[in-house]
Amino acid sequence: MKQAALITQTADYVRAQLTGEGSGHDWWHIYRVWRHTITIGRVEGVDLFVAQLAALLHDIADWKFHSGDDSVGPRLAAEWLSGLGVEAASIEQVCAIIAGLSFKGEGEPPQPLSREGQVVQAADRLDAIGAIGIARVFAYSGHAGTPIYDPDCAPVCGPVRGMTAEQYQAYPSTPINHFYEKLLLLKDRMNTAAGRQMAEERHCYMEGFLAQFAREW
Ligand code: ADP
Ligand code: NI
Repeated sequence: MKQAALITQTADYVRAQLTGEGSGHDWWHIYRVWRHTITIGRVEGVDLFVAQLAALLHDIADWKFHSGDDSVGPRLAAEWLSGLGVEAASIEQVCAIIAGLSFKGEGEPPQPLSREGQVVQAADRLDAIGAIGIARVFAYSGHAGTPIYDPDCAPVCGPVRGMTAEQYQAYPSTPINHFYEKLLLLKDRMNTAAGRQMAEERHCYMEGFLAQFAREW
């Protein structure tokens, strides 16, 4: 099968799997990450076949929804791609990207990623910040059942900084805390120049939102 057809088939598969997902990891999140991957990937001159497949499959089985097991996503992606007859070397590259993509806590060292992986990660992180990032963090928290903010459980800076993966996963966060635990950190963790530039405006927008939220509170 031609590369374009493999990408279309993979998009159709992911769309069927994730349409209507309610935590902000639905098909349209994947679609936006896919588009950003193409935009940034062109500037960076990476292998767009591998990058697009990784973008499309990156949230097929998130570790947060599988009791912290981060092997499920790469395994499902590998099964899907080998079923399509994609060559083993490409499958390996895609799975390594999916395994290394996720933010696991401020105190965790960044995982090594290929250049294609860095592009997909920048694309995914762009969709976690700005107006869409704000919408997604509240969607996620509604899905998880946490209040929008709780001043008694709100160590929004200080103790929550530098969390390990275990602390990050176990911490009873609120969406407002999540800005300080992750979203405001992403701008400086963009591994591509194009991604960094696109992140600036979105970052400022979140800062404005948080200032307004604090005034209203
Ligand atoms: P990745 O694994 O790609 O780094 P996640 O799937 O953890 O990203 O996060 C995607 C988005 O889901 C976040 O940017 C945020 O909007 C939401 N999210 C994830 N974890 C939390 C959390 N603990 N509280 C609130 N929102 C969260
Ligand atoms: Ni994602």
